[in-house]
Amino acid sequence: MKHCTFSFTTALGAAALLVLAHMPQARADSAEDLVAKGRYVAEASDCSACHTIKGGRPFAGRMEFKLPIGSIYSSNISPDPAHGIGAYSEAEFARAVREGVRRDGASLYPAMPFPSYARMSDSDIHALYVYFMKGVQPVAQAAPANGIPWPMSMRWPMMFWRAVFAPSVASAQKDVNRTFPTPAIARGAYLVEGPGHCGACHSPRGIALQEKALSASTGTVFLSGGAPIDGFVPTSLRQDQRSGLAAWSEDDIVAFLSTGRNQKGEAFGGMTDAVYHGTQHLSPEDLRAMAQYLRSLQPNSPNAPAWHYDSAAAAALQHGDASARGAKVYVDHCAACHRTDGHGYAPAFPPLAGNPVVMSDQPDSLVHIVQSGATLPGMSKAPSAFVMPSYSQMLSAQQIADVVTFIRGAWGNNASPVDAATVTSLQKSAPPRVLEEKPVPLN
Ligand code: HEC
Ligand code: HEC
Ligand code: HEC
Repeated sequence: MKHCTFSFTTALGAAALLVLAHMPQARADSAEDLVAKGRYVAEASDCSACHTIKGGRPFAGRMEFKLPIGSIYSSNISPDPAHGIGAYSEAEFARAVREGVRRDGASLYPAMPFPSYARMSDSDIHALYVYFMKGVQPVAQAAPANGIPWPMSMRWPMMFWRAVFAPSVASAQKDVNRTFPTPAIARGAYLVEGPGHCGACHSPRGIALQEKALSASTGTVFLSGGAPIDGFVPTSLRQDQRSGLAAWSEDDIVAFLSTGRNQKGEAFGGMTDAVYHGTQHLSPEDLRAMAQYLRSLQPNSPNAPAWHYDSAAAAALQHGDASARGAKVYVDHCAACHRTDGHGYAPAFPPLAGNPVVMSDQPDSLVHIVQSGATLPGMSKAPSAFVMPSYSQMLSAQQIADVVTFIRGAWGNNASPVDAATVTSLQKSAPPRVLEEKPVPLN
């Protein structure tokens, strides 16, 4: 396609280009511009995070989603007519993305975040469609059959789920057009609540696994923190002290979304994918708009006290006093990177002092990252990768409980202790994964 357009433009010659220069509308709508715009919308929407597996062809699907009733697999959304979405018309594509209805009329499982995508504008959907049809290579490979046994495999009950919990496109669009303090905050709200589907992980869910709020227009529940995914807890993105982003500046948020790291923390778990496939590709203006919108969100727990650094734990360790519970494990295994004062060497090794991940009510992320480790890959604007080692072979459940208790208590963090039984039960729900990657040295 790119090739055809190129020879077409050269054939036009200089005179014709001059004419085109006086037709800005025609230029803006050219197929090439639309494909580029559609690619950007696909990145802002993170489509590849779920539709491209590691080492697989782009958008060929096959990613496994474990639901309580069995596993489903993401669809092949390359333009292959038999195995992908090549036969979808634009209206059918819009219906699948914004309303969760497949071309054959069956309902999609909400692992596909159509309740958020319902907010996407007609012009973004149009560009997205053009991109998938013209900018993506067809892959003739079927996605695996779903592993949900009959009768749960019947999709028609999902019709009722959609009717009750998924917004209509009209009501979602009305909410997008509510009044905002500034145009940048309106743009940020659109990106976060719509294509970015940040609430799919960062908002609490109800009994039918529906998000309890789909936008900030209905109170302070939206983005107030979600349930653990694969052992990692998506924290509050509101202005909550300690558990949320109250201590993060606009620049901190922009740096985190564009590189997965900043002076306050480092991305891990599902957030690494959200940055890698999504936010790192966004323009500085769009990232700033998202940060300004997030900074405008009132706290969900307005009475939480602010975090203040307390130097007692650092002073004790620096005087050789490791008598506090877990302090010895911390000095032996963690302090080389995260330091005795808990400040780390940001952005390579994140601080643990004042880190919302560490102070969260739910200790799941801490247990899981200590036992399984984590790798932050290089990003286009920050090419170094950083590795936190895994300790499942080295530390017992008791020692993990102790060291997690230490980092939750030290440096003014003042979060509740964790016992060995909690560690063991968290290990059952999210078993340790030992990383294959080798640590990348600092440069
Ligand atoms: C959080 C994961 C996730 C993201 C992000 C995601 N999808 Fe999906 N998508 C899925 C899953 C899972 C399915 C299969 C659901 C099912 O079988 O009910 C699916 C199904 C689809 C289908 C139905 C195709 C068919 O005929 O089976 C289309 C079209 C689609 N996605 C397009 C997109 C586009 C375009 C984007 C980005 C704007 C996107 N998806 C982002 C998980 C995701
Ligand atoms: C697939 C799930 C998922 C999605 C989608 C997701 N996040 Fe996250 N996010 C997480 C998890 C898990 C964490 C906690 C780990 C960490 O700090 O990286 C997190 C952490 C964060 C943090 C750091 C908070 C802290 O205190 O350390 C920010 C900021 C953030 N997310 C913003 C966003 C934005 C903005 C979006 C939408 C563009 C988004 N996230 C989408 C899972 C997700
Ligand atoms: C070799 C250096 C190194 C050592 C040793 C180390 N870590 Fe880490 N730690 C990291 C890196 C790098 C990250 C960020 C990983 C990522 O984002 O994928 C991290 C992340 C974390 C986080 C999440 C904070 C955030 O915002 O990302 C916690 C909690 C943590 N480490 C605790 C510990 C504990 C407890 C120990 C000792 C048992 C330890 N670490 C040992 C390098 C290290």
